[in-house]
Amino acid sequence: VAGEIRFDGRVAIVTGAGRGLGREYALGLARRGAKVVVNDFGAARDGVGHSNEVADAVVAEIEAFGGEAMGHGTSVTDEAGVADMVAKARAKWGKVDILIANAGVLRDKSFAKMTIEDFRFVVETHLMGTAICAKAVWDGMREANYGRIVVTTSSSGLYGNFGQANYGSAKLGLAGLMQTLKLEGAKHDIRVNAIAPVAATRMTEDIFPPEIFDKFQPREVAPGVMYLVSDEAPTGAILSAGAGVFALSRIVETQGANLGADATPEQVRDAWAKVIDPSGEVQPNTGLEQSQKILALLVKG
Ligand SMILES: NC(=O)c1ccc[n+]([C@@H]2O[C@H](COP(=O)([O-])OP(=O)(O)OC[C@H]3O[C@@H](n4cnc5c(N)ncnc54)[C@H](O)[C@@H]3O)[C@@H](O)[C@H]2O)c1
Repeated sequence: VAGEIRFDGRVAIVTGAGRGLGREYALGLARRGAKVVVNDFGAARDGVGHSNEVADAVVAEIEAFGGEAMGHGTSVTDEAGVADMVAKARAKWGKVDILIANAGVLRDKSFAKMTIEDFRFVVETHLMGTAICAKAVWDGMREANYGRIVVTTSSSGLYGNFGQANYGSAKLGLAGLMQTLKLEGAKHDIRVNAIAPVAATRMTEDIFPPEIFDKFQPREVAPGVMYLVSDEAPTGAILSAGAGVFALSRIVETQGANLGADATPEQVRDAWAKVIDPSGEVQPNTGLEQSQKILALLVKG
């Protein structure tokens, strides 16, 4: 059994850390020795409004047990604000080793009733907000040959959820960002993973049935995220975590049917059972592996 997971000497940024899941990640990192930037814009659930109070309150909690933290109230979508946050972390602590991109908003409506403005706002916050934060720490991690990044995906993106077309699109986009950053970061020991959490927060209070709400505490997700940003972290994992249960979500491809260069729509229809047959399905680690799998099938004839 390996030793205790510690973050002494590590510097972490956790976005959206003023409440809910992000707060638990910030507390967990600080308890295990990390210096933590507690970022939170302090917005309402739909992203409206701004206050530094929630971030400052978590900083005070960390300082109360002797940990080190600083607050930053930028929106993750504000490039200049994010640059300022990273600059302040580097000025005070010299570097950024860990980024947990967790900030998020909801504007749920069925697609029929959803405005494009609400679609764009949600994608902007989750997907662009994470890309902006990852970009701001990326060069420093490459130079240091060390980095740990966790992006926050969701079952809504991976599997779908009624009323969350905007949110689900952004969330699966984040899994896509992770899939390429895991490849581009590998040479520099930058490991990138995604968390698909399930937790009772203000985000889920009207989505979960009340009788199961209490079973999913945000603190029960944190151990999975702590492992994903630790020295021994895997890379390229989509970790599903809730109520103390940890599982892997995978994107797989079936072996498929080789219908030849002149395949017709009717042949695709008639071969559907073989197209979707899960026996021998694979989990490509890169896009290229999909092409290689197809070529291997052609060689087999
Ligand atoms: N709770 C769940 O079951 C669940 C499930 C799947 C995914 N998630 C994701 O986990 C993350 C955390 O969610 P939560 O449930 O703790 O929600 P939450 O609302 O309690 O916390 C989100 C925090 O992000 C902050 N925030 C919002 N917009 C911001 C911005 N532009 N810049 C900086 N901070 C901003 C908010 O002020 C808030 O404190 C989100 O990305 C969410 O989509 C949560």
